[in-house]
Amino acid sequence: MDLEILLNDLEQLGIKHDEVQSKRSKKYLNITRDTGEFLAVLIKATNAKTVLEIGTSNGYSTLWLASSLPDDGHVFTIENNSCKIDEASENFRKAGLDSKITQLDGDVVDLLAELPQNIDFIFLDADRSQYLAIAEQLFSLLREGGLLVCDNAVSHKEELEGFNAWIANQSNLSTSLVPVGKGELLVYKA
Ligand SMILES: C[S@@+](CC[C@H](N)C(=O)[O-])C[C@H]1O[C@@H](n2cnc3c(N)ncnc32)[C@H](O)[C@@H]1O
Repeated sequence: MDLEILLNDLEQLGIKHDEVQSKRSKKYLNITRDTGEFLAVLIKATNAKTVLEIGTSNGYSTLWLASSLPDDGHVFTIENNSCKIDEASENFRKAGLDSKITQLDGDVVDLLAELPQNIDFIFLDADRSQYLAIAEQLFSLLREGGLLVCDNAVSHKEELEGFNAWIANQSNLSTSLVPVGKGELLVYKA
């Protein structure tokens, strides 16, 4: 299926689905299109090959990440909701991008230890209350010169206070807050 058509379909589905779905855990909570475009440019500009995403949902953001990578690039994406994992898997197959994506099923806290080192690019879009607890392990997976992007940095600024403070205390990390979508925090690791 044509990627642009699939992305458009998922955008319409995401809006309708999240409007009628009262249970937050079942909502897709997809990134905005401009965030997808922004991530795509960042992946290409940084020549990223290995990407880690925390929070797959139904795979909308993963499609932006995977489709921006070179042929030998790969995305590892973590999700703990089995229905969403199945939906994402179907979307990856439809886009013909399934061979570039490894889905990791479970809680991010348990799965980080299984990931490869020297990841080029991390996209963080899951349970914000966990970010501070996983920060050290997460940034140890990112290679020097790599970039982490955190979604919701403006929309849920207060929830990220502890995480932001931890980052500010690391001498090898520098940040920029970009007003795209729900606010993207860029963290560069020197
Ligand atoms: C905001 S949504 C991700 C949206 C997705 N990035 C997109 O734009 O299409 C957050 C996702 O993280 C998942 N999640 C939350 N806490 C998690 C955890 N501890 N481990 C794994 N996945 C988690 C949720 O089930 C949810 O699907």
